[in-house]
Amino acid sequence: MIIDVRKAVELLNDGKVVAIPTETVYGLAARIDRSTAIEKIFSTKERPFFDPLIVHVSSINQAQALTKEWNEIAEQLAKSFWPGPLTLVLPKATTIDSMITSGLETVGLRFPSHLLALEIIRQTGPLAAPSANKFGRTSPTVALDVDEEFLKAVPVVDGGPCEVGVESTILSIESNKIKMLRPGLILKSQILECLNSTKTDFQWNSSESAAKVSSPGSMLHHYMPEVPLVLLMRDYSDEQLGLVLLERFSKIPDEEDGVKLKKPRKIEKMGEVLLSNDPRIAAREFYAQLREVSRSHPDVLLIRWQENWTEEAWSPVIDRMKKAATLMLS
Ligand code: TXA
Ligand code: MG
Repeated sequence: MIIDVRKAVELLNDGKVVAIPTETVYGLAARIDRSTAIEKIFSTKERPFFDPLIVHVSSINQAQALTKEWNEIAEQLAKSFWPGPLTLVLPKATTIDSMITSGLETVGLRFPSHLLALEIIRQTGPLAAPSANKFGRTSPTVALDVDEEFLKAVPVVDGGPCEVGVESTILSIESNKIKMLRPGLILKSQILECLNSTKTDFQWNSSESAAKVSSPGSMLHHYMPEVPLVLLMRDYSDEQLGLVLLERFSKIPDEEDGVKLKKPRKIEKMGEVLLSNDPRIAAREFYAQLREVSRSHPDVLLIRWQENWTEEAWSPVIDRMKKAATLMLS
């Protein structure tokens, strides 16, 4: 159900859950001081309580007030990249409901740039919002995706197609140590450039295992489309491909990391997902393409690996692609 900003503010202030647009993906929002609504976010998404929510703010001061420690790193990054697709994980203020942070001592904070999101947050105060999809599934990038995902049960503000198209970069800051928990449009090289040019003291921790442990939501499978996705790392003839796929699918488990893996019953029709050569456009279109190609009901979705996808600008799309894929065929 599509609603306007005025109605969204009214519902949120009344302790309801509303889907709102952001520049990255649509979010399922509730006021951070309405615990019933926060609980409703988890139940609507069928999201486990161990996976914390990001809090969205409409100013740097508001973010600062929600933390216990706001340091020079946070200050410089916020000044450079906010409003925009960067989430900072920082020690939380005691006032934040522990259901939002899944009992962690830290909180993820984001100052989005979408004008409607900002207009809403200015009237409601900070909003907790995960992406507006069922747990483990593809994030919505237009209002209609949200309607489809929750069968119109969630009121949604239509802010048009999301410009970025994949979720924000998540960076955790622990005193002077930083690490990237999720790649996004704001790249590691831009973060390093910002901190180096402002002569800010920091240490970059790039250990992947560290990122997995400290970001409860960063599991192996996520963002999965309706139809199983296969990432083709090399060329196969059509005949060969059908056989190899059937054989490989028969060997994978039904569930991994708590996420059900979709498998085709037969392989007659394959839907190829074609992405732009421009990584920003590819990111913008990625989730929409998965949904679009799935609509013609192929047995599997195929993406053919491109050589230049190892470049940094591709990192957010490749991260989502690998997690969305049930199989990677090399
Ligand atoms: O672009 C975005 O970030 C979108 C829009 C709606 O703002 N939101 C989004 O939320 O992607 P969600 O819940 O789908 O993903 C947030 C991720 C989860 O994997 C969660 O585990 C992680 O952020 N996260 C949240 N708070 C955290 C914390 N305190 N420490 C570590 N990871 C955290
Ligand atoms: Mg999500």
